[in-house]
Order: sequence, then C-alpha cells, then structure tokens
Amino acid sequence: MAASPFLSVLVTIPLTAPARRGPVILVTSYETTATTVAIIGAGAAGLTLANLLQRCGVSCVVLERQSRAYVEKRQRAGVVEHRAVRMFEEWGLGDELFAGAPASGTIEIRVDGAGRLFHESEYTGGVQSRMCPQQILVQRLIGTFLDGGGDLRFESAGVALHDLTGDQPRVTYQDAAGTQHEIVCQFVAGCDGDHGVSRTVVPAGAMRTYTYDYGIGLLTVLADVPASRYPLFAVSEHGFAARFARGPNASRNYLQCLPGDDLANWPDDRFWDELRQRVGEDGLASGPVTEKGIVEMRSRVHEPMSYGRLFLVGDAAHIINPMGGKGMNLALHDAEVLARGVRAAVRDGDEAPLRAYSEICLRRVWDHQEFSRWMTEMLYESGDVSLAGPFRQRLARARLERLFTSRAAANMFAELMVGLT
Ligand code: APR
Repeated sequence: MAASPFLSVLVTIPLTAPARRGPVILVTSYETTATTVAIIGAGAAGLTLANLLQRCGVSCVVLERQSRAYVEKRQRAGVVEHRAVRMFEEWGLGDELFAGAPASGTIEIRVDGAGRLFHESEYTGGVQSRMCPQQILVQRLIGTFLDGGGDLRFESAGVALHDLTGDQPRVTYQDAAGTQHEIVCQFVAGCDGDHGVSRTVVPAGAMRTYTYDYGIGLLTVLADVPASRYPLFAVSEHGFAARFARGPNASRNYLQCLPGDDLANWPDDRFWDELRQRVGEDGLASGPVTEKGIVEMRSRVHEPMSYGRLFLVGDAAHIINPMGGKGMNLALHDAEVLARGVRAAVRDGDEAPLRAYSEICLRRVWDHQEFSRWMTEMLYESGDVSLAGPFRQRLARARLERLFTSRAAANMFAELMVGLT
C-alpha cells in the first residue's frame, strides 16, 4: 500500500508576540504523508518491523536520522538466534536474509587456557542459530524493503512526535534539503535505540525504569583477523575474554576491563598481549584494529513498552548486556509481536493483541535478562576473583562444570543460547 503525500499548513502564534506590533504569525508548511505506522529508526528493530508490515500490506514510513551508508556499515551483534531465523522464514524472508550465513552450533569455553567444546545442537535436536553480522542483516533488510517499494527516509533531522494519545498521531521532521515533513499515522513505533527521541516524549510517571549495573567494563575490539574456530569464551584469573567471527576475515574481541576505564589505557599492543594471556595462546595472530570502544555492562528495562499509540521496540525499550547475544534478538522479537498486533488492528479491527504487546515482549525480555545475568556471573566470577571473592569464584566454577556433567543443565543453557522457544 503506497503512502499518499499531500500538503498542509500549520499556523503558529507565539505566546510571546510583542503587543504593539500585533501577533507575529509563523507559517510552517509541511509536506504531509498519510500512512498506518510511522517507524522511527532504521536499526534491526525498525527495519524488521517495516519488512513484516510490508509483507502483510500495512503501509509504513521509516525515518532514520543517519545516512544509508552509515547505517549499513555499523557493526554490532553477530548471531541471529533460531527463533528469529524461523520467524523470518515464516514471513517469507529467510532466503533473502540468510543466504550464505553459516549455522552456529558449537562454542568453546576455555578455563585457564584449557578449552572444552559445548555442542549446543546436541541438546537442541540439531537446531542452530545463524552467524550473520548485524550490518549484513541490516543491509539486506534495507534492500528487501526498498525492492518492495518501501518508504525509507534517511537523514531525517529533528524528528518530533505529537498527539500520541489521540486517534491520529503525527511525526514531524526535516529532510536533508531543509523541507519540513509531517507524517500522519495511526501508530508510532519508537525503534530509535537507547538514545532516541521516542521514549523521551513519554511523561514522567507513565513508565518505570529498572536498571542493573554489573560494575564491569568491557573493551570491544573489531579487528581484521579471523576469529578462533568456534565462538570463544575464556575465563582466567586475568579476567574474561571472548572472540567471535564477523565474517571469515574479521573478529570482534572482548576483554573485561575496569568500569569507567579509558580507551587511552588500551593501545593495540596492550590489547593483543592481554588477549593472548587470557585465552592462553601465545601465538594468537594480531591484525589491524578497525574499531575500538568501551561499554559498561549495564541492563535496563522500561515498563510498559507502550504509551498511547506509541510502541517502543528494541533498544528504545530495553538494553541488555552483550553476554548471550540477546540485544538484537530481543529487538527482532518485539518487532514481530508489534507487526502481528498492528495487522490484527488494521485488518480485523481487533486491538487486543496491541494491548498485549508490552506484556508479551516483557516476558521474553526478563527471561533473557535473567539468562544474561546468570551467564555473566558464571563466566566473569569464575575468573577474576576480585569481582565477588573466592567463595563465589568456586560457586561460579561449579556452575560452569555442571554444563559438562548434567544433561539438564546443558539443555537449559543450549535452549537459551540458541533461542529455541
Ligand atoms: N530520529 C531518527 N532516527 C533515530 C533517532 C532520531 N531521533 N535516534 C536514533 N535513531 C536511529 C539510529 O540512528 C539507529 O539507526 O535509530 C536506530 C536505532 O537502531 P539501534 O540502536 O540498532 O537499535 P535497535 O534497532 O533497537 O537494535 C537492536 O541490535 O546490535 C543490537 O545494540 C543493538 O541491541 C541493539 C539491537
């Protein structure tokens, strides 16, 4: 369904207009587009939602503040869990999105340099996740949406949301040429990440925020050097380290660091030395570092995930620490729940699924927050004794050992890692 552009004029009389000269009338003309869903943000969440809506014939307009080139290069997550792969397949997008993306069925957990393989697929009936760097998924989602005639507007500045509690919300913004636009819609999807504008319009008191700070910093380094054979988690007294493939010739590497640590403390040589020590491989090859950053290990959930006709999706509603790789996967789940809700509302006049949106999403969000915390405790505390003390270190090692000795424990871990349900 194509969006229909027309023109509208908004007249504003400033309250502060000087009395003697009469009111100053500012005339703002908008290029107006009518659509069903205005989607703010073209990350994994917004683009997935846009594609699913397109598949069920519901019109939408996507507004993204960055350029297409920027969005397509942004590197982040790398594993799409089974549930999400199955979801894309069910919506007829599996082949386009995952062509050539290898399955991911084994991880290595290395303790004090001694590695053991954990074959997730042995515990999931052969079901596996797919390795798909987020920027590849984003590029393909953009391609399929535009090929299907989708309306995706990059470099949209000053996005503002209006009338969210009425029947006809509006979103205004300015394009790169300076033209003012207005999108008149039925629903707004806030898919603009943790630092976006959507959540900020929710009045204080209408949403509750739950935050957890792990008190750990995480150095992340992207390098043009192949990763270890399997996704690697390394535990040692020197601190936690992890390595994951980002395509055949690049890797994303993680090192536990101090909270509030400074990148200046991590010149490339120090990073490679620490990585070698923590994974127990003196001969580990280094390569050009293409991106380096420090993130604080923090999690946050905003409840409920909706306000009036605004629905928050993905990072705009919750962030989760990277352990377990659930950030992008939660975003994909939210997007599908919202797409189904909008379809029911638009096609069948049934708004019940939309009313249940927040509750359905939050169930999975909290389940994965719990998993992510469980895994963080197990892997970080079993290494660095300064984090929680020697007693908890022994507990964490016992928990880790159980994965290799108890089928029930292995089942649970594999099920959550692969995203079986
Ligand atoms: N106007 C328009 N677009 C905006 C605005 C704004 N005011 N603010 C942010 N955006 C855009 C960003 O430029 C970005 O492209 O919204 C998008 C949000 O994308 P992500 O941050 O990737 O968030 P999300 O789509 O929820 O991603 C889900 O994938 O890898 C993970 O860390 C990522 O956990 C996150 C997940």
